Amino acid sequence: MNTVAEESSWWDTIKKQSFLIDPYPQLKAWRELGPVHHDRASDVYFVLGHNEFAKLARSPKMGRDTRLWRGGWATPEAKTRDPVCYQLFSEMQPQMINVNGADHQRMRGVFEQAFRPAAVAAMAPMIEAEAVKLLDAMGNGGDLEFIADYAAPLPLRVVCNLFEIPAEMDQQVLAWSDSMIRVLDIMTTPEQRKEALEALHEFKIYVRELIAEHRRNPGNCLLDTLVAAFEAGTLNEEEAVMNLVSMLIAGHETTVTLIGNGMLCLLRNPEQLAALRADRSLVKTAVEECMRYEPGGNMILRVAIEDFPVGDLVIPAGSLVLGFIGAVNRDPAVFADPERFDISRAKNPHLTFGAGAYTCIGAGLARLEGEVAFNALLDRFSEIELAGEARWRLDRMNARSLECLPVRLRRNM
Ligand code: HEM
Repeated sequence: MNTVAEESSWWDTIKKQSFLIDPYPQLKAWRELGPVHHDRASDVYFVLGHNEFAKLARSPKMGRDTRLWRGGWATPEAKTRDPVCYQLFSEMQPQMINVNGADHQRMRGVFEQAFRPAAVAAMAPMIEAEAVKLLDAMGNGGDLEFIADYAAPLPLRVVCNLFEIPAEMDQQVLAWSDSMIRVLDIMTTPEQRKEALEALHEFKIYVRELIAEHRRNPGNCLLDTLVAAFEAGTLNEEEAVMNLVSMLIAGHETTVTLIGNGMLCLLRNPEQLAALRADRSLVKTAVEECMRYEPGGNMILRVAIEDFPVGDLVIPAGSLVLGFIGAVNRDPAVFADPERFDISRAKNPHLTFGAGAYTCIGAGLARLEGEVAFNALLDRFSEIELAGEARWRLDRMNARSLECLPVRLRRNM
């Protein structure tokens, strides 16, 4: 445990620009103080050690239902203090990632079949076709903005295809997602919360219409799986709507960061990019290393259902626990030479997709999207280099994503 003087500053430090631009030196220094830290100012438990977070994230004594958090958004006190946040939280509650135990298994079970390895592998031609469309639009290359032109539109279209949402809706889904992603971020302003609530209401109306349409005219996509679960009574109406909304958000925002942050890692390490170009069998370990080195999420949440001993302290039931993934993924107790970006790293048990019962259901799909995105880009362009300064988004803490990544591309002739 750290001294009181050190403890008081953590919550403020993680909102600072210097931390948002490059959190790793600070995370390293904090991890060296100990694997778990209780921040007295915020009463949050931060976890920085890999073994400690893996154990905790996998334990049934830890859940994701924030209604059990004593300082949470669902308390009567929170309702008076911040009614917009309370309403947002309440409306977003009925989805798999926000519930524990049997309810979680019931909701997750609806989607599991669709994300099994064979089902994901069958999505490869669709993902490749979407990547090719975006690359075709780049012509012979030149100076481009990698996030807007490639990293962002590809995962959005892929997840929309899973639910047969037409391409004309991409910009609208993107706008709703952008507002919603900020909802529970510690840097979100009250105005942004109001905007998020409006976006959520519009998004829900659209999703309700989609569900109604597929009830009238059944098809054969993931939306029909959801509709079948609703009609069988496995999901109630609010659960059907919210799980679909959150799947559309979770299914693209995070994968944008895999492709965008990963590309930046490769561009900053040109010898690694050259190695990948020369030997494409490295693409799987390259994607894993991008995920480890620059995870798109800064923190993964748990709420203690029971008292939980970890490190040299006991986390009391009702506490909020946040795993710092940037620290966990560079823990020298688990990773050799952790500060080095190495696309051929053989042992890479990063926790970017979380762990245990809540492990990302879309992990296989995200990995495949990363592989396709990098392979298709390298097939098309013989030279790829940074063409200016990459800018991190500085208005959010939970996600670690790029606002802009200027690249210069030259085509294979
Ligand atoms: C690189 C891309 C991605 C990253 C980094 C990521 C990360 C995560 C994380 C950290 C969690 C919570 C894990 C935990 O608490 O232990 C999660 C859960 C989830 N993710 Fe992903 N995700 C990605 C892509 C996707 C995709 C493509 C989809 C769907 C199309 C998806 C859907 C979900 C869902 C539905 C959950 C909730 C699972 C549950 O509650 O059981 N994610 N993801």
